Amino acid sequence: MADALVPDWLSVPADANELVPSLWAQNVERRDGEIHVGDIGVRELARRFGTPLYVVDESDARTRAARIRSTLETAFDRVGTTCHVYYAGKAFLSIDVVRWMTEAGLRIDVCSGGELAVALASGADPAKIGFHGNNKSVAEIERAVEVGVGAIVLDSFTEIDRVAEAARAGGRFQPVRLRVNSGVHAHTHEFLATAHEDQKFGLPLAQVADAVARIRSAGSLEFLGLHCHIGSQIFDSGGFAESAARLLEAHAGLLAGGPVPELNLGGGFGIAYTDADDPVPLTETAQRIAEAVAAECERLGIPLPSMAFEPGRSIIGPTTFTLYTAGTVKPVVVGAGDGTAVRTYVSVDGGMSDNIRPALYGADYTVRIADRSSDADPALVRIAGKHCESGDIVVDADYLPSDVAAGDLLAVPVTGAYCWSLSSNYNYLGRPAVVAVRGHEARLMIRRETEADLLARDAGAREGEKA
Ligand code: LLP
Repeated sequence: MADALVPDWLSVPADANELVPSLWAQNVERRDGEIHVGDIGVRELARRFGTPLYVVDESDARTRAARIRSTLETAFDRVGTTCHVYYAGKAFLSIDVVRWMTEAGLRIDVCSGGELAVALASGADPAKIGFHGNNKSVAEIERAVEVGVGAIVLDSFTEIDRVAEAARAGGRFQPVRLRVNSGVHAHTHEFLATAHEDQKFGLPLAQVADAVARIRSAGSLEFLGLHCHIGSQIFDSGGFAESAARLLEAHAGLLAGGPVPELNLGGGFGIAYTDADDPVPLTETAQRIAEAVAAECERLGIPLPSMAFEPGRSIIGPTTFTLYTAGTVKPVVVGAGDGTAVRTYVSVDGGMSDNIRPALYGADYTVRIADRSSDADPALVRIAGKHCESGDIVVDADYLPSDVAAGDLLAVPVTGAYCWSLSSNYNYLGRPAVVAVRGHEARLMIRRETEADLLARDAGAREGEKA
């Protein structure tokens, strides 16, 4: 029965204090039992900033960004073309993050007026911003055109007309890409390739020629090339290569009608969330994609386009852990008839409002006691949040030392991507603070939401103040 509670990928650790290197940021380590980032221990972080807290290893974020950029650039340089790397801001965006990325030589990919506002507030060069979205408002389009965004990614015929009109009205020649639904959808080691994919993004390959003709005849749009994003958390190159081949076929056909300088293959490079995840290293994946693109261009007899990618998760995901305080520890007897087993529920001071990914995608995470190490035998735990919902689980299953107790600080690694950006105020919890640690300095990037913040937008509360 006990085994039935343990997922296949999880085994009892030899040491439930160990920080598996692939899951923790570069500058995180245990010192005298306590997890430190750079020179700062988690106890100090919790004391100064409270919990829950997103803790970002700033040096790691900068280093990863630069490394991923140069890995992709080098792979395509070897086959004879250039490559631009955009950081996909939807993974996690703040003014500081935009600066780290631009200082590491990356461009910025945004997908809403709000994300655009953050990128502009950081001082990013608008010409190095790409603007996505399947339903951009006219106001968002006008703003993007007005500030001189380097590329708007068009997602429908309606949008071709809207952007063309905004560019005409603003007296601009707006560079655009066309998002294509290549029929390839990829996730981890598998990809699905069909003639048509049933999803909302982009135009099917069969409509590309008409769409590009419309772009070219608009007079106010500069066509840069095709774009495709085949999915997220992808562990190898197969899906990218297949999608690139399909896009290049269309790309080759478009060359007869004018220049097509670029090809953008989106983001999606996968990362490890548990030690059972084993993504192919990006150096290898990038090289395979570059070789596939070069071979396909040669077969088609066309020049290699300049390439672009938009990684988000692979840059920011592993740089961050969430620090929680354990509030209650409750052994729950599970099972009947065929035997029983105990699963220890540890409830923390956050939950699905700061990490919705387990509830939304069944995503697995791991956990460690952060402020001490312990020799106690490992016990199977489930880390739950404090929300009024039984699916409010942060870590479905892991082992912690069996003396885990209320008041312990717990750290959940690999929460840099799609955690803060998907956070909510469910049950009126304030969103946690985000802190950047570098060397001996811990700096608040985004402050914690207060009760005053939560009430500030409630018109009733303002009425009360006036009365
Ligand atoms: N480019 C486009 C057009 C995208 O739609 C996305 C992600 C990316 C780039 C970045 O993909 P990445 O390298 O981060 O995988 N909330 C989900 C992920 C949704 C991704 C949506 N698009 C999650 O938490 O797994």
